[in-house]
Amino acid sequence: MSKNILVIDDEPNLRHVLTVVLEKAGYTVSSAADGKEAISITETKPFNVILCDLRMPRMDGLAFLKHATTRALDAAIIMMSAYGTIDTAVEAMKLGAADYISKPFKPDEILLKLGQIEERNRLRQENIRLWDAVQETFSFQNIVAKSESIRKIFDTIQKIADYKTTVLITGESGTGKELIARAIHFNGARKHKPIVAVNCGGLPENLLESELFGHVKGAFTDAVGDKKGIFQEASGGTLVLDEIAELPLSLQVKLLRVLQDEMVRPVGSTQSAKVDVRIIAVTAINLAEAVKQGIFRDDLFYRINVLSIHVPPLRDRKGDIPLLVNHFIERFNKRLNKEIKGVRPEALQALMDYPWPGNVRELENVIERTMALTEKFKIDVDELPEEIRSSGAATRDPWPTDSISLKTNTMALEKTLIQRALRETNNNRTHAAKLLEISHPTLLSKMKTYGIS
Ligand SMILES: Nc1ncnc2c1ncn2[C@@H]1O[C@H](COP(=O)(O)OP(=O)(O)OP(=O)(O)O)[C@@H](O)[C@H]1O
Ligand SMILES: [Mg+2]
Repeated sequence: MSKNILVIDDEPNLRHVLTVVLEKAGYTVSSAADGKEAISITETKPFNVILCDLRMPRMDGLAFLKHATTRALDAAIIMMSAYGTIDTAVEAMKLGAADYISKPFKPDEILLKLGQIEERNRLRQENIRLWDAVQETFSFQNIVAKSESIRKIFDTIQKIADYKTTVLITGESGTGKELIARAIHFNGARKHKPIVAVNCGGLPENLLESELFGHVKGAFTDAVGDKKGIFQEASGGTLVLDEIAELPLSLQVKLLRVLQDEMVRPVGSTQSAKVDVRIIAVTAINLAEAVKQGIFRDDLFYRINVLSIHVPPLRDRKGDIPLLVNHFIERFNKRLNKEIKGVRPEALQALMDYPWPGNVRELENVIERTMALTEKFKIDVDELPEEIRSSGAATRDPWPTDSISLKTNTMALEKTLIQRALRETNNNRTHAAKLLEISHPTLLSKMKTYGIS
């Protein structure tokens, strides 16, 4: 708010008139008869706006302006002059004046200028705030997202990164689970120690066992020497157990023991050794379901399900799509040495409409493939893969219901948007209300109307 104003003018009359007018408009006004007096006043209190005459004895307006800009006074300075030529105005603006007004002026004119400056400041502040938000939340360790659900995950990561607690990351294939595992490691106290990942479904049982825990020479035919296990390689750091649901049952027992005792015994050895690793378990399969089916031990499930992070599928956070698209375009511009500027609106619409069964990985691949083939500046809808072009047209019904009633359709649309907002915010009603730009009580009453719980 531009509330404190300093008026600098050698004419007592003008100082008086301006003071009356500005005070009436709600400003707090101080005044000075020349630049020197003004300097000593600005040293005692901050001003939002300074109105400064050009021609004054002792120290003139331009000299004061120079002084003010070198002192980096926060005030917006408006120069006033009766002898104003365009040149002095231009020079004043170059020196950092916010605006210029020629005398004589009507009170309304000066109030209008003040209003413009306030608006400009407000926009500048807003811009800074938005930009900060972009910097902070849209990119976290190369994870691009603005959806409430992913931002919550960022918060969680920051809270838990420093501890040794086991984390379970769940979510469909391609949602970014591995990125999140890495973000946990690199945000925590263990970031200077190794992070090692092992795919629990990638190796036959006996190989996986020696891979995990190591073996001693002669433990089996091929064991020509001692071999360190992954647990030991990750010592002091983080071990990511990817696709943990695929860990064979026999190894599940062994893993459970390691987690409980923090001791590892290499295959063929009689000695156990202490290990200090943080475990991050990752799964695309619902582990509780796997427990029910008897393919995953319930005791191990409880042991690793201390703290879990669920990464929602991309179709449930479509607001992230435009950001991800731009992120991948930038990345592939570098990699493919291209200068593609973005996607056309129809293409973005098609990308938004597609359900992305392969999640972010599929989106990444689609963008890469399209960019490699396109000759255009901006990606067009007809360059997208067939399944993406057709899915939109097939599933997108412009109206929620068959009825032509505005009321019925509006209500159906409202219901859909409310459900989407709740999904994107993990049922956080306060945040959902914000996304919907309605009040919290309005949201609750609408949820009741539409039977959403
Ligand atoms: N929010 C995101 N921002 C930027 N890139 C992302 C994001 N989410 C995923 N990716 C990218 O998508 C691809 C798939 O991510 P990632 O490997 O982490 O998925 P995943 O959940 O581990 O998949 P899977 O279950 O198949 O192993 C990677 O190339 C990753 O860089
Ligand atoms: Mg993965």
